[in-house]
Amino acid sequence: MYNADLNFIFRNPTKIVFGMGAASEVGQEAEALNGRKVLLVTDRFLERSPTFGGVEKVKKALGNKLAGVFSEVEPDTGTHIVNKGADYARSIGADCIVTVGGGSSIDTSKGIAIVLSLGGKIEDHPGINFLSAPVIPHIAIPTTAGTGSEVTYAAVIKDHEKHRKLIFADNYIIPNVAILDPLMTVSMPASVTGATGMDAMSHCIEALHSQQAEPIADSLALGAIRLIAEFLPKAIENGNDVIARGQMLIAANMAGVAFGNAQVGVVHALAHSVGGRFGVPHGVANSILLPYCMEYNLDAVVDKYRLVAQAMGINVSGLSDEAAAREAVEAIRALTRRINMPQRLRDVGVKEEGLKQIAEDAISDASIVYNAKSILDPEETLKILKQAY
Ligand SMILES: [Fe+2]
Repeated sequence: MYNADLNFIFRNPTKIVFGMGAASEVGQEAEALNGRKVLLVTDRFLERSPTFGGVEKVKKALGNKLAGVFSEVEPDTGTHIVNKGADYARSIGADCIVTVGGGSSIDTSKGIAIVLSLGGKIEDHPGINFLSAPVIPHIAIPTTAGTGSEVTYAAVIKDHEKHRKLIFADNYIIPNVAILDPLMTVSMPASVTGATGMDAMSHCIEALHSQQAEPIADSLALGAIRLIAEFLPKAIENGNDVIARGQMLIAANMAGVAFGNAQVGVVHALAHSVGGRFGVPHGVANSILLPYCMEYNLDAVVDKYRLVAQAMGINVSGLSDEAAAREAVEAIRALTRRINMPQRLRDVGVKEEGLKQIAEDAISDASIVYNAKSILDPEETLKILKQAY
């Protein structure tokens, strides 16, 4: 599994606060970060939802530290949203950001912090390690359990004109605090619970089959797989199951730390490209592509996939590594069927004539670099896409 030349750096700088009702501690956390003029970032749906109430709770907990609310985040946040949010943040003199929302909102906040720090527009700064100093502090309160963005160094922001997702990756944009409050996720609809949960599962598998995998990230990923296999179906069957909601938040967080260190691979490269061209939600695209990408990578990482099968409760004793690895792929497929995820790209609005372009986009996506098998030829990504179509 690992050779004598293994070397890695493991980071997990985010303070994690977990608990039922923990969101009400946001005021103390902002205080500890010297936040005096807090910008609250969220989306209109959460702000106005009569069943959610989380935004009001956080506003109340922030009290007079709250300087303003930016609630124009949309699913698949875009450069225009980030730039608008940064203008607003500047106008209120924000010195701290609190996000209440899913990955799109958390990534918007990361983008706003980058623009506040570097000026210009967000699209001027894509890339890796482009910051030379910390950005303003950020407290993330996720309302979905999947993206792990509350602990990662990356933001994915769509350039809607070019139909591409831009990746901004820098250790300075890792949120300072992640508040995991199961009550903030109970109103999430089953379809979103499924899609975001499968995003977290994809983070686990991708961390494990990454060329940058290492034992600490592996153990987080395997622990998270165990939790997702058990609690994702429960959270979908009963959205008010606060135990399942809490365990899924923890799993998504562990998966975020795992892939934040080990990186992701071909599943994400393809999902970003499918999302960029056809607007397929990130978790849905990952869920469809994951088993096909596992089959593609299989012979390079059979030992890792054997562990995946075990973490999913499959008895693999007596099986060869390859047979055990195939069991892992089937267990993933069975999970996606059990939670009613779409099975094919054709089922989610992807057009067959677009596959070639997606295959080419994926080759230049930063995520593909760490995939178990090196992929340089778009014919390879096209092969996977055709199978998943
Ligand atoms: Fe993801």
